[in-house]
Amino acid sequence: MSGTHEPGRPEGFATKSVHAGEASDPLTGAHGVPIYQATTFDLRTWDNFEAFWAGDESVYGYSRDLNPTVRHLEQKMAAIEGAEDSVALASGMAAISTTLLAMGGGAHAIIANEIYNTANKFVNEDLPVHGMRMTRVDMSDFAAVEAAIEPDTKLIYTEVVSNPSLIVADIPALATIAKRHGLLLIIDNTFLSPATFRPLEHGADLVIHSATKYLSGHGNVLGGVVSGRKELTSRIRTKSLRLGGTLSAFGAWLIMTGIRTLPLRIARHSENALAVARYLATHPGVSELRYPGLPDDRGHSTAARLFGEEHGYGGMVSLRLHGGEAAMACMAEHLRLIAFATSLGDTASLAWPIYKTDVLRLSIGIEDPEDIIADLDQALVAVRAAGFGA
Ligand SMILES: Cc1ncc(COP(=O)(O)O)c(C=O)c1O
Repeated sequence: MSGTHEPGRPEGFATKSVHAGEASDPLTGAHGVPIYQATTFDLRTWDNFEAFWAGDESVYGYSRDLNPTVRHLEQKMAAIEGAEDSVALASGMAAISTTLLAMGGGAHAIIANEIYNTANKFVNEDLPVHGMRMTRVDMSDFAAVEAAIEPDTKLIYTEVVSNPSLIVADIPALATIAKRHGLLLIIDNTFLSPATFRPLEHGADLVIHSATKYLSGHGNVLGGVVSGRKELTSRIRTKSLRLGGTLSAFGAWLIMTGIRTLPLRIARHSENALAVARYLATHPGVSELRYPGLPDDRGHSTAARLFGEEHGYGGMVSLRLHGGEAAMACMAEHLRLIAFATSLGDTASLAWPIYKTDVLRLSIGIEDPEDIIADLDQALVAVRAAGFGA
């Protein structure tokens, strides 16, 4: 594995993204982590057998517990998040559900009002089955967060930038509250990625990513990762191998490959999204626009302070059109370059209407910004021609 090349000098984020967790094949020297496509491992010695049962992570026994390719990804993620350890899982939802069950089972949790749709359903419909109670709060209302704390509250859970309305959470302020009351602060940072913001550096206890999005970056693999202190990630790993939401070796290999270019891609996603947001902000067909990089966005000052000034504001934009859902449907159907498709964080731009709302979520890709804007422009001309407009 590559380490610090000059003793004592910490490597930069881009260097870690390329090198951390990587290792050549010990047998052949093939450069890059091999895909260890095996379910079981020859333990060879009784000592290894004992170590396997003791949960020693240097001994591989069975790929639902741990696989070498997956472990390399976990080491890369821990390095780029600045975490003691990471656990990789089969999807972002596997990471969220396993983490919340491992950390909050049987207790009370404080959860942001707006979180990703499936996570929202899991929190509302599944966690109560596991004996958990929830209070939903506006995370920008710190008094409400404090007031929601009960004697058996164990954790606070929020996204840094929320899906789909791009509400920005002040992570350091929430960390101060969590610490004061002995609660865990668990963050989903999928919308930004560690290239833009690293919640663990701002007092969070655990950070979750859907690796399906920016980490892998090419829309070709599902995965999830949770990172933090080893005492916490070990509990999540134990829960994960029982629930069985393990990531495949091939999935881990694709995500590792993606992470190598993460900082380059994120810089371009952010630049392009800012250009798109500026274009949409003045378009007469747009009734409401959300992008934390715009100076008049409600989350701008928090976003600027936490990450934006240094690392940009990410690749996600959301909007409403004059004409509501029908105008949005017309726009989605007229896009040509931008796919009418769910998911986000892909190199290709994607547009996704949020079901039963009139919010259109755009995941801005790394194409030429003029081409993305031209596509939006021709679709908005079609919307106007169909009779929608201010
Ligand atoms: C913010 C956020 N978290 C988690 C997830 C779930 O990730 P996955 O689809 O990999 O399960 C998503 C999916 O869109 C998401 O947007």
